[in-house]
Amino acid sequence: MAEGTTSVVGLSAATLARIRALEGQYPSSRSAVLPALWAVQDELGYLPPWTIEVVASELRLLPGDVEAVATFYSMYFNHKPGRHVVQVCRNVSCGLRGSDEVLGHLQDALQLDQEGNTPEGDFSIEGTVECLGACGGAPMMQVDRYSYENLSPQSAVEVIQAIRNQSPKGDRQG
Ligand code: FES
Repeated sequence: MAEGTTSVVGLSAATLARIRALEGQYPSSRSAVLPALWAVQDELGYLPPWTIEVVASELRLLPGDVEAVATFYSMYFNHKPGRHVVQVCRNVSCGLRGSDEVLGHLQDALQLDQEGNTPEGDFSIEGTVECLGACGGAPMMQVDRYSYENLSPQSAVEVIQAIRNQSPKGDRQG
């Protein structure tokens, strides 16, 4: 099958090859679960339930072993996220400095649906993220791979608006 085409299991041949190549790189195939899940998420944008079975099968593990990893880390998504993913830290430092107000204001301002996506599909907000390692700038949030610190409810919304203004019109998911 040509690289990039869809395989019988719903992932591209390139992604399956990437997963298979991981197995020999670690003493235990359990250690390959994290990068294998990244490979899936890189292709699909999230981890639909059926991909847990595929990764488990490819790495010769039990589905429960893979699911435990996929559900433990907040960087793996179990639903299709927006074009930009916002993660508001709610651990102790951020919580004491107002992360609940930041999150609540963002949720109201962006009119999120039940899965935490904006109506336009350009942003999704993950509100259950633990410490993101920038406690000195609490409260903080991460948008994609960038951190924004010392937020107020209003400045958090301004960050989102600035990103929207920089995005080309086609830079939104339907
Ligand atoms: S508690 Fe929020 S970054 Fe550490």
